Amino acid sequence: MIEFSHVYKNYDKNYILRDLNFTVNKGEFIFITGPSGAGKTTTLKMLIALESPTHGAVKFLGTELQDLKPRDIPFLRRKIGFVFQDFKLLPNRTVFQNVALGLEVSGIFGDVIIKNVSEILKAVELYTKKDDFPLSLSGGEQQRVAIARALVQNPQVLLADEPTGNLDEETSRIIIDIIKSFNNKGTTVMLATHDKNLINMGRARVIDITKS
Ligand SMILES: Nc1ncnc2c1ncn2[C@@H]1O[C@H](COP(=O)(O)OP(=O)(O)O)[C@@H](O)[C@H]1O
Ligand SMILES: [Mg+2]
Repeated sequence: MIEFSHVYKNYDKNYILRDLNFTVNKGEFIFITGPSGAGKTTTLKMLIALESPTHGAVKFLGTELQDLKPRDIPFLRRKIGFVFQDFKLLPNRTVFQNVALGLEVSGIFGDVIIKNVSEILKAVELYTKKDDFPLSLSGGEQQRVAIARALVQNPQVLLADEPTGNLDEETSRIIIDIIKSFNNKGTTVMLATHDKNLINMGRARVIDITKS
């Protein structure tokens, strides 16, 4: 489903990624790991065409992403949900409105929004906080809103960038369990983290980008 072949990436003269090769099959859960600055975020961003490789190819469902036209990119991003490291929640919109945005950008409105947003908020156990604003929530709750927003369009793939970055161990486990529950229902997951405890908790394939 996802294939990186001979991917190199440099900014100026610094090569971040050198000959990165891996594949991810449909339905898999994998960790992308490596120390801070290794290129984990850059690797995930390549899959939604926010970054492109300097050399080599990144393929999704058999299509080389570098060949996509600008007008194709919104369609790619409907198939791949992205949870950013810093959440990127809008502070002056409610939990419900933040999650609904993921659908509105796809031109979906009305009853479908209410139904889908309500369902996903129930799945991450935040329905009772749907009218709250992000800054009144805990870090773990904000992360769950970000996950709900990424998943509300029912994407084929979820990319999660350090989703437990600032969270304690118990909250991290809740986040991982939520992500795993979606993986069990068929969503392919790539989770970037430098946290070895988290990798031990997750028990899944690990791709170390400094070694591949
Ligand atoms: N847009 C950019 N311009 C220049 N350097 C960048 C840019 N994005 C990332 N980098 C650098 O590339 C390296 C890898 O970044 P990143 O992918 O964020 O690593 P990680 O997520 O593993 O911590 C870092 O040294 C970072 O400073
Ligand atoms: Mg990063």
